[in-house]
Amino acid sequence: MRHRNIVILTGAGISAESGVPTFRADADGLWLGHRVEDVATPEAFVRDPAKVQAFYNARRAQLATVRPNAAHLAIARFAARHPGRLTLVTQNVDDLHDRAHAEIAPGPGFELIHMHGELLKARCTASDMVCNWREDLEADHPSPHHPQGRLRPHIVWFGETPLEMDRIEAALQACDLFLSIGTSGAVYPAAGFVQAARFAGARTVEINLEPTTGRRLFVEGVYGPATETVPAFLDTLY
Ligand code: APR
Repeated sequence: MRHRNIVILTGAGISAESGVPTFRADADGLWLGHRVEDVATPEAFVRDPAKVQAFYNARRAQLATVRPNAAHLAIARFAARHPGRLTLVTQNVDDLHDRAHAEIAPGPGFELIHMHGELLKARCTASDMVCNWREDLEADHPSPHHPQGRLRPHIVWFGETPLEMDRIEAALQACDLFLSIGTSGAVYPAAGFVQAARFAGARTVEINLEPTTGRRLFVEGVYGPATETVPAFLDTLY
């Protein structure tokens, strides 16, 4: 085993070949065809909850049409045999990592953190209670947790704080290998994880379709479709 404590950060690029669209593909600067401030901010939810719920309802429903690809499955196989610690931090709100690890059970040192939330969970606006959720949410969806609450998607919107940052920071401080897979590095704090990993003395590798604007922050880069590059790279670790 060349590396004991590993952190893998994933972004939309790892799910692209499953058919989940990435965010910043449009030359017109739109975010999944919308202005961010119309669908992915707390202010948008106050202003037009029907529009925001409809946006996430569509994305939630789309999960039924996609499956984990060779990259998700390669990480799951790796997690099953890695004897050390493996922290998989995803910015993705889909459940494709979850399904891959349900298929191939991970070792005891594995944890999966959805730092930007999950489409298949809903949160009460009054109590912050989180519950599993698979159905559509209505504009004013009553919360089962609190009489004054309503249910919102369990998604970290722009302007909100990502989840589980303490656990992520602790894993970064202890890591000896940091992989960043399929993320443009356009959104903080995830874009800054590579610097924390370097500070910890870790080997840092960017795995992406093409070099990102943050390429110089990594010592190594591996480029091509994730379904090819991720299984091949993980095979080199043993
Ligand atoms: N294999 C590998 N990488 C790919 C592939 C592929 N098949 N297809 C696309 N990519 C790369 C793109 O080149 C791009 O660098 O994946 C990256 C996707 O970048 P973004 O669309 O910006 O997605 P991401 O980095 O996950 O966005 C981060 O920003 O919008 C917010 O909260 C949202 O979690 C998201 C965060």
